[in-house]
Amino acid sequence: MTSSLANSISSLNSVAMGDKKADLVLKNCSLLSVYTREIIPKTQIAIIEDRIAYVGPNAGHTIGPKTTTIDVNEKFVGPGFADPHLHIDQFVLPSELAKKSLVCGVTSLFSDPIDIVSVAGYGGFKEFLRLGEDLPIRIFQVVPGGLPVDGKFSYSKTMSSSQERSAIKHPHVLGLGEVFSWTKVTLRDPKTMKSLSSMLEADCIINGHTAGASEKKLNAYVSSGILSCHEPINFDQVLERLRLGMWIMIREGSIRRDLKQIIPRLISHTTHLNQLMFCSDGLDPLDMTNYGHIDHCIRESVNLGLETIDAITMASKNCFDYYNMGKDLGGIAPGKLADILIFDNLKTIKPSKVFVGGKLVASNGSIVTTIKKKTIPSWIKNTVKLNKFSPNDFVIKSKKNQVDVNTIFMQTEIITKLGEAKLNVEEGNVLPSYNNDVWKVAAFDRIFGTKKHSIGFLENFGADIGAFASTWSFHENNLIVIGSDDSDMAIASNILVKNQGGLVVVKSGKVVASLPLQFAGILSTDSFEDVSSNFKKINDSIVDSGCKFSRPHLIPLFLPFLALPSVRILSNGIVDVKTRSYINPIK
Ligand SMILES: [Fe+2]
Repeated sequence: MTSSLANSISSLNSVAMGDKKADLVLKNCSLLSVYTREIIPKTQIAIIEDRIAYVGPNAGHTIGPKTTTIDVNEKFVGPGFADPHLHIDQFVLPSELAKKSLVCGVTSLFSDPIDIVSVAGYGGFKEFLRLGEDLPIRIFQVVPGGLPVDGKFSYSKTMSSSQERSAIKHPHVLGLGEVFSWTKVTLRDPKTMKSLSSMLEADCIINGHTAGASEKKLNAYVSSGILSCHEPINFDQVLERLRLGMWIMIREGSIRRDLKQIIPRLISHTTHLNQLMFCSDGLDPLDMTNYGHIDHCIRESVNLGLETIDAITMASKNCFDYYNMGKDLGGIAPGKLADILIFDNLKTIKPSKVFVGGKLVASNGSIVTTIKKKTIPSWIKNTVKLNKFSPNDFVIKSKKNQVDVNTIFMQTEIITKLGEAKLNVEEGNVLPSYNNDVWKVAAFDRIFGTKKHSIGFLENFGADIGAFASTWSFHENNLIVIGSDDSDMAIASNILVKNQGGLVVVKSGKVVASLPLQFAGILSTDSFEDVSSNFKKINDSIVDSGCKFSRPHLIPLFLPFLALPSVRILSNGIVDVKTRSYINPIK
């Protein structure tokens, strides 16, 4: 339970004056001051309960018989890191993610649980809020700000205005998550404007997403009270937004890595850094293992020439200043919550000790506190509302012998364009063509159980497998099935119905790889290590079968995502994103 500063001032003041004794004193710290950009040697820090009471050259007056003192031996001591924007409703439960983030020095996570809401509405949001509580990491939430992605085509759940208003009353709900359909703002969509107004009235933060916006559209967006963006992919975009008073979260995560493009010019421009942060926007288990979390952003930025103290400030103080939490968090100073990292050196940026609220939670890369596994209600493990599939469910009918078809041509795992192909028809069913690399692709509503679905064709996938299916897809969470064989497509789909979620690869009737995602069909209740291993097998099995892309799990994830060009498939149909119209699979 976190203390409030208002209720702690007498106690903190008494310890600072020496009238009351501290619980813990750290001596001989080389303090990384994010307030003055300096390293202050031989600093002493006194902590009472979960807050810092004194920072200075001599905390002797705060030490009593019951005070624990630790000599830090001139090691570097700095504030806990924050990830100011990530989707933690991915892959693993918050309790599993916490273990990995904490050993990287990340003590606060600002979560945008958009996919859990798209599957399970306000009930899912509240469930996720519960899962994020009582952990030795701080998890703050925002109400997802982008659902539905497009009212005409999208079919996901969302939160009503009254549910949004009641959500933000919770102390860990800070405002509205990334408003990524920015045209809804520039066109002043009534529900969007109402939502923005009620957030501003309640003094809440609104996170932004302005990919592709500039000049008057960017001005309209910012003047609507949305002051941050994590989409800039180069320094010019960063600068344009900073000049309008925005806060920038430089993204370095599994979706994109932008540090290399931005940091060198940021340094040469000598702009102020006080409105800059790092964010991951979400990390897959392999990236988390191989790169780390926000610690990686600091290492990478320092390698690119940024001063270490500046990178640490961007990873801590600036995040909390943005969220108006600077009185409680962000640096090592009197009154602040004692989220403290100790580093043996500043090269690796791997903390040897991690304190959250004055309690040691990680030491030398291991968690040293108990993280309880919470019970998961059964309703959230039953969200794939589909009946048993048969190969007939994947038939695309034609009376001709050969047909011209429209395809979704994969340029990368994420980027698509409209393609075309000629396909043979057998017994009235249009056949995919392995030789021409043309596949069937299907999207089924699995949230409402409406039986709504669409089937089309996908090009340039390349893998010699029968089917690849996923119940997790941004932010529609349709069941997406890609396949060269109707029978394998049915088998893959049935496995996901039986498991109530996941990713699966099937070839010649056999399961090649499976990642169960039992929680709302979007994350696993298994350990981080098991999820990581299954996730690797999914990608490896498809890549080893000849897929043209290195991260094929992203293909079903992004196929229904209407915020990106150019052709997408959802349970409602195949959509030309630019013209906002449906495309027939057969010409
Ligand atoms: Fe995001």
